[in-house]
Amino acid sequence: MITIRNLYKRFKNLEVLKGLNIDIHEGETLVILGPSGGGKSVLLKHIIGITKPDSGFVDINGVNITDLTGPALLRAVKQMGMLFQGAALFDSMTIAENTGFYLTEHDDPETGKKISKEELAHRVDEALKMVGLDGTQDKMPNELSGGMRKRAGLARLIVYRPKILLYDEPTTGLDPITAQQINELIVETQKKLKATSIVVTHDISSALYVGDRLALLRNGQIAHIGEPNSFIKIEDPIIDFLRKSISQDPRNFR
Ligand SMILES: Nc1ncnc2c1ncn2[C@@H]1O[C@H](COP(=O)(O)OP(=O)(O)OP(=O)(O)O)[C@@H](O)[C@H]1O
Ligand SMILES: [Mg+2]
Repeated sequence: MITIRNLYKRFKNLEVLKGLNIDIHEGETLVILGPSGGGKSVLLKHIIGITKPDSGFVDINGVNITDLTGPALLRAVKQMGMLFQGAALFDSMTIAENTGFYLTEHDDPETGKKISKEELAHRVDEALKMVGLDGTQDKMPNELSGGMRKRAGLARLIVYRPKILLYDEPTTGLDPITAQQINELIVETQKKLKATSIVVTHDISSALYVGDRLALLRNGQIAHIGEPNSFIKIEDPIIDFLRKSISQDPRNFR
C-alpha cells in the first residue's frame, strides 16, 4: 500500500504538486493521466524517492520514505523498479548487461543475497524472452528500434522482480501494434510478479487496457479517480475529450 498525503513540490516559482493525496492499493494497476507538464513524472520520482517534497509525505508499506536518504532510502525502495520516460538504457552496455544491471549492482531483493553468474544469465534470458527480445543479448542499445529499447527497459524491470513497478509513458512514440504489445506485457508482468503498478500515460487506450483504476492529475492534485467504467463517464473537459477519442473499448480486447 502506498499512501501519499498533502504532497507539495515547487521548482522556483513553478508550483507543480499542490497538496496531492492518493492511496495506491496493493496489487492494483493505477493509471495516472493528465496534461503535459502537469507533474506526472515528478510524482513518480517522489514515489521512488529520488525527488523530495517541500512538504507532505510518501509512505510505502508503512515506511515514510520522505526523510530517508542514503542506504536507508535504498533499503526502503529496493522493491521498486521504474521504466523511465525514454527507456534510459546504458549506451555502452550490451542488452544483456543492461537487462541484468540491477541484479549485478544490488543483491536479489527476494533473497537479500548476491546472485550467481549462472542464475543471472538465466534470468536475463528469461526476461528477454518474455519481452520478445531473445537473441538480442549481445547487441548494443543503438542497434535496437525505439520499441525494442522500451521492451529492453521492461526486461530490466522483470529481471529484478520488483514488487512495485512504475512506468513513465511506456507506449509513447510507438506504433499501435508495438504499443499494444507493451500493454500486454504490463498486464502479464503484473500477474507474474503480483506487483503493484503505477502507469503514467497519455494513451487512453493503454490506460483502459492496463488500468484497474484511473486517476487524473490536474493543477497539482488528483482531480478524479475511479474504476475505468465510472472514470470514463465523469463530466470533465479532459475526460470528455478522452471519451470522444476512444472508438472501441480497449478492454474488449482483453
Ligand atoms: N528538476 C526540475 N527542475 C525544475 N523544473 C522541473 C524539474 N522537474 C520537473 N520540472 C518542471 O515541473 C513540471 C512538471 O514536470 P513533469 O516532468 O512531471 O511533467 P509531466 O506531467 O510528466 O509531463 P509530460 O506528460 O510532458 O511528461 C514541468 O513544468 C517541468 O518543467
Ligand atoms: Mg513526464
